[in-house]
Amino acid sequence: MIEPKTNTLRVALAERSYDIHVGSALIARAGALMAPVLQRPRVVVVSDTNVAPLYLASLIASLTSAGIRTDEIVLPAGEQTKDFAHLEILLDQLLALHIERRTTLVALGGGVVGDIVGFAAAIALRGIDFVQVPTTLLSQVDSSVGGKTAIDTRHGKNLVGAFHQPRLVLTDIDTLATLPVREIRAGYAEIAKYGLINDAAFFARLEAGLGAQLIAGDADARREAVVASCANKAQVVAGDERETEGARALLNLGHTFGHALEAESGFGDTLLHGEAVGIGSVMAFELSARLGLCAQSDADRVRRHYASLGLRTDPPKTNGPVWNTDKLLAHMASDKKVEDGALTFILAHGIGKAFVAKGVTLAEVRHVLDRAIAA
Ligand code: NAD
Ligand code: GLY
Repeated sequence: MIEPKTNTLRVALAERSYDIHVGSALIARAGALMAPVLQRPRVVVVSDTNVAPLYLASLIASLTSAGIRTDEIVLPAGEQTKDFAHLEILLDQLLALHIERRTTLVALGGGVVGDIVGFAAAIALRGIDFVQVPTTLLSQVDSSVGGKTAIDTRHGKNLVGAFHQPRLVLTDIDTLATLPVREIRAGYAEIAKYGLINDAAFFARLEAGLGAQLIAGDADARREAVVASCANKAQVVAGDERETEGARALLNLGHTFGHALEAESGFGDTLLHGEAVGIGSVMAFELSARLGLCAQSDADRVRRHYASLGLRTDPPKTNGPVWNTDKLLAHMASDKKVEDGALTFILAHGIGKAFVAKGVTLAEVRHVLDRAIAA
């Protein structure tokens, strides 16, 4: 049988290096692909209540046929699962299964499963291996790569976590066929982000049709965009694994605004993480234009492209909180991106020209928020 085409990318991090395989029908080949990176032929697959009925059985069958012993844990789906309570439940179940130092965890699901499983792997038995099998567009293009793992707390998103790189990322783009289109659009914001940060040609390609094709379900367009995104992220992570040099910080474009919107809307269904990042990216370009750093036409271009694909460009006016600028600013003040009390934003000199801007004045941020809330 001819194997469907698979692209393999490498995240080059010396002894923590790993491959990202992107292709079709990879879950069916997971056993063969995963076996070489396992210290022992034993894994615990962790998934969520939406993904498990769709893909857990085929993943387990593939692992079993490769001689790998498997156990399964299924967590409730949704961002609320990324908390201390579910971390404790997960760790308790893992310990009850008598995991050992050379057992590997497998995260089968979106960014929520990937983040909590990665964090559990970082701390269980002082650190065990894990493999990412991302099933949302957002997790395939962003969260499964780079080793950031975390849970949310009442103080904000991702405030407790660890850098812990996976041993392998298996990205089966066929899983996107069952993903609701709202989630596809949310993941798209993270794809477009790479173009906005450092790849104007990629953004132009998305505008020229790649974006519309991938949202419409075109498999080649999806693979191309996932591969391009992972290649971009792999390069950034290899150069700045722990976000100390500045390059990785650029990946937070839209996140200071986005996290504030998410926190204010309660991390629920009102605003998905990717939607918040999309709105936040529009706001970051509006702020850049207002500060005279980029042309207003660049900010208009971002807004126009997102709107043309049905992405949110402003905070939703219905079924959500009554947005309040002071509350959003307060959320920003507790974000990880605060240094010595000054707000750090990722701003841009134009499309593909993002940079880290420290000490942005509150008055300008307030203006952008006021306008977005009133829009
Ligand atoms: P998610 O994991 O909640 O998945 C979205 C929804 O889709 C869930 O209901 C899930 O059950 C369902 N789902 C997943 N795959 C499916 C499939 N193939 N078919 C049908 N339904 C499916 O959300 P997400 O958008 O994947 O991830 C968001 C999380 O990722 C946030 O917590 C965010 O903080 C985190 N994140 C982390 C990083 C990182 O570097 N670690 C980067 C970006 C985002
Ligand atoms: N999603 C931002 C990062 O991985 O650094």
